[in-house]
Amino acid sequence: MAENKSFSEFAPMPNAEGYFGEYGGSLIPEQLLTVMQDIDKAYQDIRQTPEFKEELQELYKYYVGRPSPLYFAKRLTEHCGGAKIYLKREDLNHTGAHKINHSLGEALLAKHMGKTRVIAETGAGQHGVAMATACSLVGIDCEIHMGEIDIAKEAPNVVKMKILGAKVVSVTRGTKTLKDAVDSAFEEYMKDTESTLYAIGSVVGPHPFPMMVRDFQQIIGEEARDQIQELEGRLPDALVACVGGGSNAMGLFTAFLNDTDVSIYGVEPAGKGLDTPDHAATLTLGKPGAVHGFKCYVLQDEQGEPLPVHSIASGLDYPGVGPQHSYLKDIGRVEYISATDDQCLDAFMILSRKEGIIPALESSHALAGAIRLAKEMKPEQVIVVNLSGRGDKDADYVAEKLGL
Ligand SMILES: Cc1ncc(COP(=O)(O)O)c(C=O)c1O
Repeated sequence: MAENKSFSEFAPMPNAEGYFGEYGGSLIPEQLLTVMQDIDKAYQDIRQTPEFKEELQELYKYYVGRPSPLYFAKRLTEHCGGAKIYLKREDLNHTGAHKINHSLGEALLAKHMGKTRVIAETGAGQHGVAMATACSLVGIDCEIHMGEIDIAKEAPNVVKMKILGAKVVSVTRGTKTLKDAVDSAFEEYMKDTESTLYAIGSVVGPHPFPMMVRDFQQIIGEEARDQIQELEGRLPDALVACVGGGSNAMGLFTAFLNDTDVSIYGVEPAGKGLDTPDHAATLTLGKPGAVHGFKCYVLQDEQGEPLPVHSIASGLDYPGVGPQHSYLKDIGRVEYISATDDQCLDAFMILSRKEGIIPALESSHALAGAIRLAKEMKPEQVIVVNLSGRGDKDADYVAEKLGL
């Protein structure tokens, strides 16, 4: 792993209780608190050891295919007629998204802790596939909880998880999507925390997960920082990434947080519109609250209960968001904008037809934001977009939706 270059006032380690400013922490029952403290201790013990760093670095290089390319999207740039657009190609990673970066770290940690099973939730199925892959690689059992609606929408990923040997649990309660999958996975985890690790799929959940998942993902920004300097001889003017829980965004942003000349944008799902209830724009329209054992911005009702949320991208429809994003919003270091389902579909088709790259619907939100920003910027300016995943899983759904 590259050396960490970025801890500073903008990218602090959380405090001992896991707070970034007022967000984060471990708002969980005593029994689970001890479990999380054990995970934190195990992570702190191994994260800086040469053996762990070397093992992960080798897997990133020879198994995932890192570094992922930073690709100049010439025809997309011409289409927008403004800033130069570069794509950080996380879609080219083994398993097709950034999720493999933290899944390998979590699986190695599980093995180090002597766990025999990993439980995880998944929305779009990318974290599920990545986790099933990592578990098969290190030789431990894997159980993935996934909402019934997402199972139907992301069928190719469900088949892959099964082929990889994972047990897939269909979650039929509530909205039958990501939030309910997290609830279900946590409940199952509570039955056996001794032999199982709950491998959370984003920079969310109780401490130490927001910090740990970010640490495993920050390789994205470290590579992009070196690559853009090699290609352009300077840092970019802007970074853009989609934000569900926020792991691919923290992965790209972390290495640039101190570079205050670099504008940073997170793109949230505006679903059917911010003036409807059908969106998941947590940082744009939510309020500070608590969900799944940590404090963050939450889309919530009067009683503080998380609201049902919607996005065309299953990996983005979550009523909470990472605590570090909540903090970065409050201090004004990152600007959070949004893109609707329709804008996402437009961006999906534009990238496919201008560049021959079919993006994930999640990543298409980042593209929609970048297309809008590029048009307002000058041709000598540079944007780096995190293309967090590929769209094979979404192809059938989009074709049906657009009548192709
Ligand atoms: C390709 C892709 N990008 C982005 C996300 C959103 O997650 P996060 O905000 O943690 O990066 C997902 C979630 O499933 C995904 O599959």
